[in-house]
Amino acid sequence: MKAITFDRFGDPGVLQLSEVDVPEPGQGQVRVKVHTAGVNPVDGKIRSGAMQAVFPTTLPSTPGLDVAGVVDAVGEGVTGLTVGQEVVGWADSGSYAEYALATVVAAKPAGLGWEDAATLPVAGETARRVLRVLEVGAGDTLLIHGAAGAVGSLAAQLAVALGATVIGTASAANHDYVASLGATPVEYGDGLVDRVRALAPKGIDAVFDAAGRGALPDSITLRGGTDRIVTIADPAAQELGITFSGGGDDRSRGEDLAEVVERAARGELRVRIGAVYPLADAAEAHRVSDGGHAPGKLVLTVA
Ligand SMILES: NC(=O)c1ccc[n+]([C@@H]2O[C@H](COP(=O)([O-])OP(=O)(O)OC[C@H]3O[C@@H](n4cnc5c(N)ncnc54)[C@H](OP(=O)(O)O)[C@@H]3O)[C@@H](O)[C@H]2O)c1
Repeated sequence: MKAITFDRFGDPGVLQLSEVDVPEPGQGQVRVKVHTAGVNPVDGKIRSGAMQAVFPTTLPSTPGLDVAGVVDAVGEGVTGLTVGQEVVGWADSGSYAEYALATVVAAKPAGLGWEDAATLPVAGETARRVLRVLEVGAGDTLLIHGAAGAVGSLAAQLAVALGATVIGTASAANHDYVASLGATPVEYGDGLVDRVRALAPKGIDAVFDAAGRGALPDSITLRGGTDRIVTIADPAAQELGITFSGGGDDRSRGEDLAEVVERAARGELRVRIGAVYPLADAAEAHRVSDGGHAPGKLVLTVA
C-alpha cells in the first residue's frame, strides 16, 4: 500500500510517499481503509524528533493519529464493529496511509462528511478532557489561549454549551471566527492582562492554554495563582507549577470521541477546515502546520 513514511527525524522534507506492507490487525484492533487523515501539530513534533524524550518513535514511521475510513478487517477480541462500517478514530499505525490499524474508533454518522470526521479525534478528545479537568460549568468565565485552533475552537464551543462565558485569544484575522463560536475574541501578546481584565472585570475562573506560546505567567496573574489553569502545550508548565494535560486512556478517549462525533453530526460542533491535500502532499501540509498559524484544520485525502 501507499503510505507517507520518514526514516530520519527532520524538517517536512523527510516525509516521502512509500510502498509498504498492509498492516494486520492485532488483538482489539480493526484495520481501516483510510478515506481521510487529520494533520495535528504533534505529527510535526514527532517527525522533527522533538517528542523523542516523552513519546519515542521507532523509524521508519508513518505519521498520523486522526483517521476516518471503512473497517476492512477485524482483529481478535473486537466486538460491535464489522467489516464495511464507516468509522472515525485514533490510528495506532499511522493514518497517512491507505490502511491504518485502530483500537479506539466510533461509528461515523452518515451526516458527517469524511473531511469533517478527520478533524475530530485528537482535538475533540483534548478539548473535552481539559474542560473536565478544569471543571468548567455554567457561570464560569473561561479564558482560552489559541481559541482559533482546532483544540481551542472545539473547547470554546463546548464551554459555551456548558453555560460558560468564553474569552479566546487569537490573531486579529481570526477574531470574527472566534466570535462566531460564541466567544469574545482578544488579541494575544503584550498587554494581554489589561485587555482581559477590561473584558472580565469580575475575573477569570479558569484558563485553558491550547496554544502553548508563553501565556502561562499572564494566566497566573489573571487567576491570582496556579489553580484552574491547564496547558496542553507549554513546556514551562512544570517549573511554573501549572497542570500539563497530556492524554487520556483508551476508555475516556472512546467516550469523548463518540460524544464529539455525534454532536458534530447534529451540527452542534464544527472545526474549520483550512486546506485539504492529497496524501502525496503531506510534506506541504506539515510546512503549514509547523508554522503555527494554520488557517484551520489540515486534512489529507487518501481515497
Ligand atoms: N497535550 C495534548 O493532549 C495535546 C493534544 C492536542 C494538541 N496539543 C497541542 O496543542 C497545540 C494546539 O493544537 P491544535 O491542534 O489546536 O493546533 P492548531 O489547530 O494548529 O491551532 C494553533 C492555534 O494557535 C494559535 N496561536 C499561534 N500563536 C499563538 C499565540 N502566541 N497565542 C495564542 N494563540 C496562538 C493560532 O492562531 P492564530 O493563527 O490566530 O495565531 C492557531 O489557531 C499544539 O501545540 C498541539 O501540539 C496537545
